[in-house]
Amino acid sequence: MVLDFSALRPRDAYGWMISTILPRPIAWVSTISAEGKSNLAPFSFFQGVTANPPTLMFVPVNKRDGSKKDTVQNIEAVPEFVINLVSFELAEQMNASAALLPYGESEFERFGIAAAPSDRIRPPRVAAAPVAFECALERIVLIGEGPLAANVVFGRILVAHVNDAVLGADGRPDAGKLDLIGRLGGESFTRTRDRFDLERPD
Ligand SMILES: Cc1cc2nc3c(=O)[nH]c(=O)nc-3n(C[C@H](O)[C@H](O)[C@H](O)COP(=O)(O)O)c2cc1C
Repeated sequence: MVLDFSALRPRDAYGWMISTILPRPIAWVSTISAEGKSNLAPFSFFQGVTANPPTLMFVPVNKRDGSKKDTVQNIEAVPEFVINLVSFELAEQMNASAALLPYGESEFERFGIAAAPSDRIRPPRVAAAPVAFECALERIVLIGEGPLAANVVFGRILVAHVNDAVLGADGRPDAGKLDLIGRLGGESFTRTRDRFDLERPD
């Protein structure tokens, strides 16, 4: 079959994209409001961008009514955030934190997710995350407008917290110990346990 994306409704295009672009890493993003209330939400439109300077991006899309998600509102008010990575043992808490709570209500508090203070920025990090990147907002790029339009958030990585327990004998993160999950289509997820190596050509 051939899908003409220019003729698809955004909701249908979204459905095809999230069920084909697989697996997607998950950014579990902590932010704070101007009043200092913490917020935590997962986003799987997420990637590293460049190491020079160290930059990553994630994409909160607008809600169905066209308004911005709490994460975007917070970053516009306090331009700092933590990208926490999600191990298998954190999967259920991560999923719970995707609930739509009233603005200002903290997912950390509502779902009993332990927080730890960040070193350089105000939003807290997830204490049990195997890796947490403290980031300063670099810029937000808007793609589209209205419902599902993207707020592409670029962040400069200031410092990373890496749990020593995920390091291998060579001092580098070991993918098996990290045990991160990825998002598939619908409500499915994958674990990063099935691996193989390929030697790079010169
Ligand atoms: C695994 C997972 C991945 C998600 N990825 C995204 C995403 O990439 N972009 C997005 O806008 N929402 C995504 N969501 C939905 C948001 O987490 C959800 O809308 C959340 O309520 C937003 O929270 P906030 O309003 O506190 O920012 C995802 C949800 C889950 C469970």
